[in-house]
Amino acid sequence: MEVVVSRLQLALIFSLLVASLSLLVRSSSPELQILTAERRIDLTSHIVRVYLTLKVENTGASPASEILLAFPPTQVDHIAQIKAAATVGKKKKKSYLPLVVNPTERPDAPNGTKYFSVSFLSPLSTGESVTLEVFFTLTHSLEPFPVEISQSESQLVYYHDSAKILSPYDIKQQITLVKTPSKKVESFTRVEPTGFAGTELKYGPYMDSPSYSFSPIIVHFENNNAFAVVEELLREVEISHWGSIQITEHYKLVHNGARHKGVFSRVEYQSRPSFGGVSSFKNLLAQLPPRVHSVYYRDEIGNISTSHLRTDFRKSELEIEPRYPLFGGWKATFLIGYGLPLEDFLFQSPDGRRYLNLSFGCPLAETVVDKLTVKVVLPEGSKNPSAVVPFSAEQHLETSYSYLDVVGRTTVVLEKKNVVPEHNSPFQVYYNFHPIFMLAEPLMLASVFFLLFIACVAYLHMDIAIRK
Ligand SMILES: *[C@@H]1O[C@H](CO)[C@@H](O)[C@H](O)[C@H]1NC(C)=O
Ligand SMILES: *[C@@H]1O[C@H](CO)[C@@H](O)[C@H](O)[C@H]1NC(C)=O
Ligand SMILES: *[C@@H]1O[C@H](CO)[C@@H](O)[C@H](O)[C@H]1NC(C)=O
Repeated sequence: MEVVVSRLQLALIFSLLVASLSLLVRSSSPELQILTAERRIDLTSHIVRVYLTLKVENTGASPASEILLAFPPTQVDHIAQIKAAATVGKKKKKSYLPLVVNPTERPDAPNGTKYFSVSFLSPLSTGESVTLEVFFTLTHSLEPFPVEISQSESQLVYYHDSAKILSPYDIKQQITLVKTPSKKVESFTRVEPTGFAGTELKYGPYMDSPSYSFSPIIVHFENNNAFAVVEELLREVEISHWGSIQITEHYKLVHNGARHKGVFSRVEYQSRPSFGGVSSFKNLLAQLPPRVHSVYYRDEIGNISTSHLRTDFRKSELEIEPRYPLFGGWKATFLIGYGLPLEDFLFQSPDGRRYLNLSFGCPLAETVVDKLTVKVVLPEGSKNPSAVVPFSAEQHLETSYSYLDVVGRTTVVLEKKNVVPEHNSPFQVYYNFHPIFMLAEPLMLASVFFLLFIACVAYLHMDIAIRK
């Protein structure tokens, strides 16, 4: 009995403590205010890019270490990448210092709002202000309407957002500029003052917007860009210390724009290219590293020779042309393979480990990859692999076998969803490798040849024996 009571008392004391603590936290939680906010929304591609410039002031009594960025729940799943930087210096001496951005939660979030927290370089003291630059990309955020178009029609899409920036802080003054790919804007929601000139829509300036202000807007406009989406991309990177780095990329590409209606007329397509199929695409550009060699491109039917490779000392460009132009909803499955010189991508770190340093994302220009898998097949005998990727990606290990392998090759598998061109930054795979294993492959080869030789000799002897 006594024990029960004391436990109860303990629990009571504990809950009281928690309550007073949370009160303390709340009362001293820093208060921020956004003095000016400028947002530029770039709708000229099928990937939406948003640039935010915020001037933030600490109006609270205690120093603030972070600021929250708020997003409607419908938008947060489409964020492929988000970056923030602090602006230091003025005018010409301006420079940007990257800041740490992390997804975060708040228990009292209204309407399912989602948050990212941006940590300041140093805590912002009372009355102090700082200027931040935020950049994020959204995928699958343009909705074709009409959903089906015929070959001769132009593609129109909807973009949904808010004229006022969603924020947990009051915003004293704000403006939003929306850039469209052409002057053809069918309609847009007005939230006065609203203006439209050339290819730019202007929302605001709006003064003194309280926290969580939200004014939904819809922009309906023409966008005939290649809505190139790779539903699945598998990049296999094979390292051989004897030869080169061999890369094989398996693509499942789809045109994700308005679905094609009716029958496809090649005659119309070829005779009036400016009228027929404006929203379709017939080629894509892959940016490959310089000094690439043995490039091939093929699909289920076989090699496609209509691809063009241009190389210079900085980069190589491969123009890929599927067998037919791609219209909305159409798919193409293909494979690209190429070799890279070992010395350009494989290095030794100061601690003696070897490492691969390669670009992570998809080499196709302006393409969204829904699911990317990168497999790095290390040479036989490699130990303790570890991967360093500059953003969150799932990692695990596998063993793959190819001809002449005895114990199999350690394979580092990296997986990431919702990949955009901004993810084309270098990643590294470190591993230990004893040079004795360099001999494994030639030794295997030699022994195979030797066995073959023995077999031949034996066979010849038998043959001779029979003839006798
Ligand atoms: C939250 O939802 C309510 C009711 O649906 C709506 O009136 C309000 O404007 C919404 N607020 C935000 C920030 O979306
Ligand atoms: C396709 O091209 C590759 C590389 O040039 C070559 O190895 C392969 O034999 C070719 N295949 C066919 C079916 O032509
Ligand atoms: C990887 O390569 C890039 C250039 O492609 C270079 O800037 C970077 O420093 C390299 N990283 C390492 C760890 O070597």
